[in-house]
Amino acid sequence: MAITKEDIIQALREVYDPELHRSIVDLHMVRAVDISGGKVRVEIALTVAGCPLQKTISESVRQRLQQVPGIEEVEVKLGTMTEQERRQLVGELSPRAEARSHILDEDTKTVIVGVTSGKGGVGKSTVTANLAVALTRQGLRVGILDADIYGFSIPHLMGVENAPVVLDDQAIVPQSANGVQIISMGSFVDEKTPVVWRGPMLTKAFQQFLSDVLWADLDYLLVDMPPGTGDIALSMYQLIPQGMLLLVTTPQPVAANVASRVAAMARKTRQRLLGIVENMSYFRCPHCGEATPIFGRGGADEMAERLGIPLLGRVPLEVGLRESGDTGNPLADPETARVFAEIAGRFHARAQELRAGATQAAGGNGE
Ligand SMILES: Nc1ncnc2c1ncn2[C@@H]1O[C@H](COP(=O)(O)OP(=O)(O)O)[C@@H](O)[C@H]1O
Ligand SMILES: [Mg+2]
Repeated sequence: MAITKEDIIQALREVYDPELHRSIVDLHMVRAVDISGGKVRVEIALTVAGCPLQKTISESVRQRLQQVPGIEEVEVKLGTMTEQERRQLVGELSPRAEARSHILDEDTKTVIVGVTSGKGGVGKSTVTANLAVALTRQGLRVGILDADIYGFSIPHLMGVENAPVVLDDQAIVPQSANGVQIISMGSFVDEKTPVVWRGPMLTKAFQQFLSDVLWADLDYLLVDMPPGTGDIALSMYQLIPQGMLLLVTTPQPVAANVASRVAAMARKTRQRLLGIVENMSYFRCPHCGEATPIFGRGGADEMAERLGIPLLGRVPLEVGLRESGDTGNPLADPETARVFAEIAGRFHARAQELRAGATQAAGGNGE
């Protein structure tokens, strides 16, 4: 009786991937089956190139097929899954099958926004966390990628308790808190060892956090970037040409210098400047209600004018805002919640406008 393709597939159902513990048929690893007389040639697609277990897999395939009556000769050809095949597989393996990362696809609906500042300590992470929750409250799906591996603080600010789940080297289930999906590059670095990743390693890690995290179907991914124009900033420009930037600044007029640097980089790399959030704008006296501009004023206005982009809002210096960060409860403070709701509304409108190409590209009329 002639051997059929069905016989072969049936037999291969019993061959399991040693790492994923599933049949290679179910894992869509059997790519091709050729039968000519008693000679069978099968092509197996490995999940990753140079898979250390490739010998084991091809031996198991060979042995199993040799037991099929009528087969005299077995040839096993190994190949590697395409990026798309692998992605689909990981999607099927993930607990939430629909939650595959499409973030870097050309037609993705996710807008990736780098939150950036010229220097540290201006409240970049605080703004990222509170803005994320404010957007979520407006019915949008939001994720945060904490790319500030030197000073990562997002998990703490957001009140994340669980660790990220690593399904395999290619798939990480993000953490979640306050309705926001979160992943922090810093969680993958040993806290006791100083981070000494250099350019290429950082870029690679950053790319992996975009492509290998099983982000849900996000409207926005906010990237909390390290301050300045370092390696992560460069990678962001290289990897996400359709990305946008949100600038966080304090009211000091020196901010304008920073603005021109960021604008120059954005223009060179065709990133679009979404807008500015001025943080620590004023302190409202709890007794008399008077607003005092502790860090001066004018910096953000000047910056907005120079760059031709909107100032999305001013966040006051608030004890409640600091406390809500310390306890991992973004927007717990009512005044903060109100301010961020406004910022979120403008942010969303402006991002969609930019996306639709209604506004001029990065830099506007800036210097
Ligand atoms: N508007 C604000 N009012 C009060 N405290 C703030 C405000 N913004 C930031 N902070 C506090 O300032 C510190 C630095 O903020 P952070 O968001 O970590 O800055 P960055 O990410 O830019 O380094 C934190 O302790 C934070 O709680
Ligand atoms: Mg920070």
